[in-house]
Amino acid sequence: MGWIQSLTCITTCVLLLQQSVVDAVPMNEPRALVERGTNLTGKFLHITDIHLDPKYLEGADPDTYCHRIKKNKKDKDTGKYGALGTRCDSPTALVQATFNFLKKEIKDIDFILYTGDTVRHDRDDDLPVTKNDVLNGHKSVMKYFRSAYNIKNIPYVPTIGNNDGFNHNDVVKNDKIFSTLKSIWKPLDLNLTSSFTSGGYYVQDVVPNKLSIINLNSMYFFKKNDEISDCSSSTSPGAIQMKWLERNLKFYQKKNNNHQVYLMGHVPPIDDDGSKLYKSKCYSQYLNLLGKYGSVISGHFTGHTNNDNLNAVIPEGKGKFTYMAADDKEASGVKASLAKTYVGLFNAPSIIPVHNPALRVYTYDTQGKDYPFGTIRDWEQYYVDLKKANKKGTVKYQLEYRASELYNVDHFDGPGIGQAISHIAKNKSARKLYKEYANVSA
Ligand SMILES: *[C@@H]1O[C@H](CO)[C@@H](O)[C@H](O)[C@H]1NC(C)=O
Ligand SMILES: *[C@@H]1O[C@H](CO)[C@@H](O)[C@H](O)[C@H]1NC(C)=O
Ligand SMILES: *[C@@H]1O[C@H](CO)[C@@H](O)[C@H](O)[C@H]1NC(C)=O
Repeated sequence: MGWIQSLTCITTCVLLLQQSVVDAVPMNEPRALVERGTNLTGKFLHITDIHLDPKYLEGADPDTYCHRIKKNKKDKDTGKYGALGTRCDSPTALVQATFNFLKKEIKDIDFILYTGDTVRHDRDDDLPVTKNDVLNGHKSVMKYFRSAYNIKNIPYVPTIGNNDGFNHNDVVKNDKIFSTLKSIWKPLDLNLTSSFTSGGYYVQDVVPNKLSIINLNSMYFFKKNDEISDCSSSTSPGAIQMKWLERNLKFYQKKNNNHQVYLMGHVPPIDDDGSKLYKSKCYSQYLNLLGKYGSVISGHFTGHTNNDNLNAVIPEGKGKFTYMAADDKEASGVKASLAKTYVGLFNAPSIIPVHNPALRVYTYDTQGKDYPFGTIRDWEQYYVDLKKANKKGTVKYQLEYRASELYNVDHFDGPGIGQAISHIAKNKSARKLYKEYANVSA
């Protein structure tokens, strides 16, 4: 054999060898995360805004974002588990204790929604967040989830927050963070198709033919993202995502078999003071889509504001939609519109102790008889009294409230949300509780 032939053989043989390796290990096909026929618990976890800060220092000065201790003077409010109500992020001890609680106490769940903001804030000029900090943050949080749950049985579905990219707030088209996260999240077997690598958003089937999650990259709608224009420009990543969203919602509505979706994202459209967090056109287009496709949207989950609040998307006439906040004084005057609520916006408080740390366990309908499969029937919110935790040297998550008791309804579909908000409007003691829980009893 001449040397050219042997070279050809070597090349071909290597190719053949590679081919057989590929054949032997089938590609991981995206699948619905919870298999059909699994015994569902009818519960899932929603957790948000972990903001893990490995540089947090007990006793440090909050003016240094809890990174440095003042000369000869420890700050007694900068506790082992966090500094309540400051601009400091979450100490490792708090995050560790949170996952210990989850591992021990929150076992009977079907899946996990994590609405992002993993990495600490880039606020400290003396300790800027580096690329490595971002990578390590994402890897650490993955590790925590995997230490608490077998992600093959209890899948976890994450989204991207405004502190999760390489540049604070500014996530662009084809952002490098997408492919980075795709490789960090590989063990999760998520459906990270080309929409994810170009835009950071994806559809994830959870229960086959019954429940899917539309996981949005809210950074493309976020007012504070300076690199992206409003959705009025048809080439803006926000407008492209909006089109993708409508295409998907239309698909499920057309399917007409009660296949429901949950929408999740980091930043909600509305802040806790009622102001818009999305760019003006993105905001109105988004609310109108929620209204238009409300019949297939069983839940809308966000974080970011650190507050607990409930908003209803209600019709405004002429196919346009607006919202009503649960503690709005005008809620009692719009009972007729509230009865026509299309979607409820659930905003959960955070782990980072802006208020007390908290997380939620939702109960959803798995019968599909009285309500569509996936309809939210209740939730329990667990929280830590952080001052007590710091004083005692140990973290205790306890039940703060049960939604069915606070809102006096047992189905959080559109009409149920309308009733819930009417209840808050007319019942003084419920309203007082709602306001207390908005700041997680801090
Ligand atoms: C993957 O995403 C596509 C839309 O991009 C969706 O149609 C499909 O159902 C998803 N598959 C799974 C298994 O989640
Ligand atoms: C589901 O529960 C039923 C009744 O408890 C049991 O017989 C069955 O084996 C369980 N199926 C799975 C997949 O765990
Ligand atoms: C007011 O709301 C609270 C909390 O939902 C409930 O326990 C109480 O029974 C309500 N009171 C009235 C008069 O409806």
